Amino acid sequence: MTQQVFLTGITTTGTPHIGNYVGAIRPGIAASKDADKQNYYFLADYHSLAKNEDPDRIRQSTLEIAASWLALGLDTDNAVFYRQSDIPEIPELTWILHGMTAKGLMNRAHSYKASVQANTESGGGDPDKGVSMAQYSYPILMAADILIFKATHVPVGRDQKQHVEMARDIAQRFNHHYGDILVLPEPVIDDSTAVLSGLDGRKMSKSYNNTIPLFAPEKRLRKLIMKIKTNSLEPGEPKDIEGSTLYEIYRAFASAEDTAAVAQAYADGIAWGEMKQRLFECINEQLAPARDEYERLIANPSIVEQALRMGGEKARSAAEPYLAEIRHAVGVRPLA
Ligand code: TRP
Repeated sequence: MTQQVFLTGITTTGTPHIGNYVGAIRPGIAASKDADKQNYYFLADYHSLAKNEDPDRIRQSTLEIAASWLALGLDTDNAVFYRQSDIPEIPELTWILHGMTAKGLMNRAHSYKASVQANTESGGGDPDKGVSMAQYSYPILMAADILIFKATHVPVGRDQKQHVEMARDIAQRFNHHYGDILVLPEPVIDDSTAVLSGLDGRKMSKSYNNTIPLFAPEKRLRKLIMKIKTNSLEPGEPKDIEGSTLYEIYRAFASAEDTAAVAQAYADGIAWGEMKQRLFECINEQLAPARDEYERLIANPSIVEQALRMGGEKARSAAEPYLAEIRHAVGVRPLA
């Protein structure tokens, strides 16, 4: 049996928040320590160009995401941790895959369709208004990310499932045409990892501006937690854990035992202020040690740069010979 290869990318457009931590970073770091699995994690900085991001923001986000994963103890000896743009084989493969990707397949991508629908509804006459080619062919770049490392398993959120399926479709078509060269990946969606709600009760997301940054300084962390939306039940009135953002976040951080105790406290009518204080203490206790390391790394970007370059070299030692094989297969070959 071929070895399982896990690979996942993080787009460099924002500051990591506790929803990212619970949904992707924490499980990713745990998996990085599993010696039986090959794990690739990377910063998808080229993907962040699909939507005209501010250049300084991309750099800052790359630093913050990398520093977060490193500070939390990512095992960079066992796993390969790198930056997409350090691997020139990725954009090369992206172009090669363009030849094996039906335009119609890209027309069906959810994110592209959402843009077209929004344009159509606004009645401006151009369904492609504001859509860059990078947004349109985003799934092909993502396919190259995955295929260049022969990934078999791609842990992603639900919203990215279609992209992984597209990578599989593209690889299949490639293999049909050129022979059995690419490895077919499959998406891995873990429904047991929590999706956290944000300050306003909607899904925690950068686009809703309702996040709690993972390494907010202690004071700010407390302030944000105090802002989490609750209902107007008074202290002493029994409260429902169902639909309570505070409870949901608490559960994602606390032990089963402490979570059960809090559920009881809800039934007994805990005051919202007290619950917020408990949540703050729980999160702060867990994140404080890594926060010190995070701050050290943010203040010393050369350490992070060094870690990414080393990861990039490791990654390229796999990508380079494989791309040579792929180029040969498609007929881009030395003449003599
Ligand atoms: N598109 C993914 C996201 O927005 C990030 C990503 C880029 C990715 N390349 C990938 C995820 C390859 C998995 C595999 O979340």
